[in-house]
Amino acid sequence: MEVLGISDVDVPALKAWSTASLELFWGNPSPERQHELAVDASAFHRWLTARIRAASPGGDDLFSALVAHGTPVREAAGLCYFLLIAGQETTTQLLSTLLDRVLRHPDVWLRLADGEPGLAAACVEEVLRREPPVTTWRRVTSRPVALSGVDLPAGAPLLLMLAGTGSDPDVFAEPESFCPGRPGARKHLAFGYGRHFCLGAGLARLEGEVVLRTVARRFPDLRLASPEPPPMLGLLSFRAPLGVAVV
Ligand code: HEM
Repeated sequence: MEVLGISDVDVPALKAWSTASLELFWGNPSPERQHELAVDASAFHRWLTARIRAASPGGDDLFSALVAHGTPVREAAGLCYFLLIAGQETTTQLLSTLLDRVLRHPDVWLRLADGEPGLAAACVEEVLRREPPVTTWRRVTSRPVALSGVDLPAGAPLLLMLAGTGSDPDVFAEPESFCPGRPGARKHLAFGYGRHFCLGAGLARLEGEVVLRTVARRFPDLRLASPEPPPMLGLLSFRAPLGVAVV
């Protein structure tokens, strides 16, 4: 939010709007639940629309920049809606998986607490490879195409298994083992590929690295409260622990 120049944000409300939006668009809610979720989603949309309408072209925040650019309000609200979700739900999920996974390796945690250079970034990459927050993504074919010997017509809905690429044994030796610093660690599709490659990949990697390094230094004795796997958020395209209980 600071990078985008956006202040006066009610963070708990933003989180509620975002988690409701994820469930509405990527979950499997009943018709009654869809109504509940739509209330939060529309509150978010109304808040964005009001902020964009109130922005002046001379300001130096994202809303003002969109107004100065002449972006229609409806389009600007749609853009901000998904940018603000893409920018924080995914990193919240990355941080949860990161803390849960690294705390299962007390030796790695101690090396992080000692400030071993490069280790935090290597842990982030290893979690992105094996358990990325965005597990799948949808596409629609724009023309007839053959993929891996399968003929697809134009307009075919596809579900791309992004997470699977990080576990390909032809690319990664012993893909199931947590091995920070492994060769070719970035050959995964956690951030997509090509024209739509994630705009925030660098920021997300940096946030993960800084948080991991800082928490390990501050709490070198931190442990998971339980060895049991945590309850998981399991939506069509998003997967991460719902919380990480520590002692
Ligand atoms: C761990 C965190 C993140 C993950 C796993 C992630 C994942 C992805 C993926 C898989 C795509 C590709 C979608 C496609 O191919 O259509 C994508 C696109 C995008 N991401 Fe991220 N993302 C993360 C963090 C962020 C952050 C922090 C921001 C913004 C600050 C962001 C903004 C975007 C935007 C704007 C796009 C659309 C790019 C385009 O279509 O040209 N993401 N992200």
